[in-house]
Amino acid sequence: MEKMGATVVSNKQVLFRDYVTGFPSESDLPITSTTVSLKIPAGSTTVLVKNLYLSCDPYMRNRMRKPDPLIPATAQSFIPGKPISGFGVSKVMDSGHQDYKEGDLIWGAVGWEEYSVITPIPNLHFKIHHKDFPLSYYTGLLGMPGMTAYAGFYEICSPKKGETVFVSAASGAVGQLVGQFAKMMGCFVVGSAGTKDKVDLLKNKFGFDDAFNYKQEKDLNAALKRCFPEGIDIYFDNVGGKMVDAVILNMRPHGRIAACGMISQYNLQIPEGVYGLSLITYKRIRIQGFNAIDYFHKYSEFAEFVVPYIRQGKITYVEDVADGLETAPSALVGLFHGKNVGKQLVVVSRDLV
Ligand SMILES: NC(=O)c1ccc[n+]([C@@H]2O[C@H](COP(=O)([O-])OP(=O)(O)OC[C@H]3O[C@@H](n4cnc5c(N)ncnc54)[C@H](OP(=O)(O)O)[C@@H]3O)[C@@H](O)[C@H]2O)c1
Repeated sequence: MEKMGATVVSNKQVLFRDYVTGFPSESDLPITSTTVSLKIPAGSTTVLVKNLYLSCDPYMRNRMRKPDPLIPATAQSFIPGKPISGFGVSKVMDSGHQDYKEGDLIWGAVGWEEYSVITPIPNLHFKIHHKDFPLSYYTGLLGMPGMTAYAGFYEICSPKKGETVFVSAASGAVGQLVGQFAKMMGCFVVGSAGTKDKVDLLKNKFGFDDAFNYKQEKDLNAALKRCFPEGIDIYFDNVGGKMVDAVILNMRPHGRIAACGMISQYNLQIPEGVYGLSLITYKRIRIQGFNAIDYFHKYSEFAEFVVPYIRQGKITYVEDVADGLETAPSALVGLFHGKNVGKQLVVVSRDLV
């Protein structure tokens, strides 16, 4: 039975039209409107949240494919005709859950809509304790991409002071942080990105030692040789494809490659091959894929690590902010054309009431 006097309000949503092949377009993600009660039914343990910020993440493209039993449940396909979902920052409006109360600010998995009814899951929904930072940071620096950079760099890359580090898609949500973590550790760091402005950001704002525009380089192998005359110890791979081939040629013995993501492959019907794999054996290279979600139990450890650096101004963070849920489809689709400069997010509401 619903609590007495429940207000019903309209709820704009971003729907998933149907499974996608090739590049997604805005028309795959139509906007619709439904209604939602602002009260949780009595006896329910769900939580009603008002969504404030949504995170645009490349992995969401993989959820636009037909379901594949070999892909783990953390990346389930979206359901045609239903709203898409992802990470967001939200305010609790009503709660039947003992651990959440009205007014709490949280980040975690929500629908792409103005209001979501969620069943909180430990290590997938987190209460926001540091409220003095912009709440949008919890879509990036203090959210999933931050955890990705932290776990991917420190756990997967096993970095050491003085090592050489290459980061692709380096001006994005994850890449900009990996580069800065690597610099803080005393590594020599080079990034690649797809425009001159992004390359400038890498060198002049994020403190990379060098950077290049991969779209302007005729020969990626030569570009990497120029930047790393003595080879690469660590490659943080955000793009896959041809870049991996060029990197393997330039890796030093016992190098490590963190296979964080391969955005250059997500929209291809036939993935590109990687040709130089025999060098993995000769050079004793370790390539390891990982999923940030597997490290979410370490979120408080990550927060303890990163918060002091943010407060001391030792970490710089660039966001690309789209305003309004209506802009969400184009913001998400834009990731695959390199339109975002820094972490792409969408403001659904700045109204905390
Ligand atoms: N393993 C995990 O748990 C995990 C978690 C989060 C993210 N990821 C992965 O990490 C990578 C970066 O994610 P992010 O959130 O930081 O995204 P992002 O870098 O903020 O945005 C995506 C960027 O990828 C670049 N890009 C797009 N198409 C490309 C192509 N065909 N070839 C090369 N670069 C291309 C574009 O930058 P340019 O203009 O520089 O081309 C674009 O701005 C993605 O592969 C993502 O799937 C993995």
